[in-house]
Amino acid sequence: MADAGRHPNITLLTGSQVESVGGYVGNFTARILKKARFVREGECTACGDCVEVCPVVVPDEFNVGLSSRRAIYQPFPQAVPSAYVLDQDNCLGHDPIKCGKCAEACQKNCIDFDMNDEEIEVSVGTIIVATGMEVYDPTVLDEYGYTRHQNVLTSLELERLISSGGPTQGEVVRLTDRQVPKSVAFIQCVGSRSQRRGNPYCSNICCMNTIKSTLQLKEHYPEVELKVFYIDIRAFGKGFEDMFRRSRGEGVHFIRGLPGEIKEDSDNQDLILTVENTATNQLEEHRAEMVVLATGVHPPEEMHIVQEMLALQKCSDGFYLEAHPKLQPVDSATRGIFFAGCAEGPKDIKESVTQASAAAARAMRLMTPGKLLVEAITAEVRPEACTVCGICAKVCPYNAIVVDKKSGKPAVVTEAACAGCGTCAAECPADAIHMHHFTDGQINAQIDAILEDDPAGVIPVFACNWCSYAGADFAGVSRLQYPANTRLIRTMCSGRVDEDFVWRAFKQGAAVVLVSGCHFGDCHYIDANHWTDKRIKRMHRKMEKLGIRPERLQLEWISAAEGVRFQGVMQDMEQLRAGVSPKEIKETQRVLAEQKKKKK
Ligand code: FES
Repeated sequence: MADAGRHPNITLLTGSQVESVGGYVGNFTARILKKARFVREGECTACGDCVEVCPVVVPDEFNVGLSSRRAIYQPFPQAVPSAYVLDQDNCLGHDPIKCGKCAEACQKNCIDFDMNDEEIEVSVGTIIVATGMEVYDPTVLDEYGYTRHQNVLTSLELERLISSGGPTQGEVVRLTDRQVPKSVAFIQCVGSRSQRRGNPYCSNICCMNTIKSTLQLKEHYPEVELKVFYIDIRAFGKGFEDMFRRSRGEGVHFIRGLPGEIKEDSDNQDLILTVENTATNQLEEHRAEMVVLATGVHPPEEMHIVQEMLALQKCSDGFYLEAHPKLQPVDSATRGIFFAGCAEGPKDIKESVTQASAAAARAMRLMTPGKLLVEAITAEVRPEACTVCGICAKVCPYNAIVVDKKSGKPAVVTEAACAGCGTCAAECPADAIHMHHFTDGQINAQIDAILEDDPAGVIPVFACNWCSYAGADFAGVSRLQYPANTRLIRTMCSGRVDEDFVWRAFKQGAAVVLVSGCHFGDCHYIDANHWTDKRIKRMHRKMEKLGIRPERLQLEWISAAEGVRFQGVMQDMEQLRAGVSPKEIKETQRVLAEQKKKKK
């Protein structure tokens, strides 16, 4: 952090908040609110004179409330910049009659109560999102009695106690009697791996953090008795299994099973843990003088603000979704935005550093040439046809289309921001958007060719490039048999499938039509498939009104790995197709022809 603070090409904006971000890759503009610190950064030498005279005492957040700090303080010992900051909510000094002692004590006169928040605008080519994580609060797990029993701590609290710079200078003591505990029990997976008791995912860091803490405790207090209650130990990283072995070698007792209850012995505040040992199938009782809850992590509440600002996607666990889990693990779906650390999922220090380095390299790779190669598959507005309705801008997942209704000027596509999903082209009511390489003409020609000879005998399938088309391919290479009359039409995203394509297929005599794309959350164009879903539902309502059976148009989500699912869907489609009579097809064609006449 000190290196980053000193680096000539890095500007650190501490105590700052990004208010909004506009633009696109290579051309982002961020509005930042830099909060006033009331101490002039460059002048403060962190001598500490102000702290000595400050009369306000509040809990110290860095030591999780295990110690206190003053209203003028340094957030933590190695904080960069090395200058004090004034906690505006608790300081009395804004009224010099009440206090102002720090300003009097500061010989360099660097305290300025009149300092104001500053608004800064910066232009950047790429953005790295590193929003971090929060630690699970175990208070809700009543059975563990956290906050009710003072000697039940979280792993973060133990971390501060054991740190030489912590509130007890590295001495691990019980909060009730300030004595070093003779026995400590660790409980794993608190707030992790459980739908009902926290979060369903593994928090990734807790097992090794506990093992590290057991080794530290054994080093400081060789006589301490340590027990770890666990579901299973996940020591999968380099050298981790060795550490686990060392911990067991030091005499740490690992017990498979999580305690169901912790009671306190009122005589000496010892803790009694009741646990079903799943290795022996016995109900056991264990005593410990201190219990440490290995709390999991979760995404910060405020992540949705950044998500909306940058048009990012989230996974079901609330962390940001990467563009591709294997091939683009640090990229977001929006070009020019990358992830580092726990923004994308729980990570330990090593993984966070690796990902941060990768994100920096990805950003550099994009910016170093000084020129940006844009995708060939982009949308283009035909200005003469545009009615300035604004629908294209509303549906674009990348905010790549600008429509200024006031000026009445036609919509404009920012090519560098357009990813080529085609949703705008499919939704445009005036057909004013031309999708390069997936034009209406090209797709219509494919529909016509497929349905030329035996329209009722084949199954037209609109499949998105990334999931369903790849799923069909996977079914093929896996030698799975699916109906031979399947006819695939590839689009980059299911969002490109225009209503007109489907009506065209029915008009030509198709018995059934399948539209297929990625599962929700997997669409490679952020949430473009949500518009597909809405569109197909809208079409079903229209079909009902026209007397056409809505089930003849199916929408299925099939991923690239679901070859078997593709086979099953196509078998069902074939059954559906066989059940559509020639009379029904003729009637559909008649109704649609009539509709067309009415429109004219
Ligand atoms: Fe598959 Fe959007 S990319 S549905």
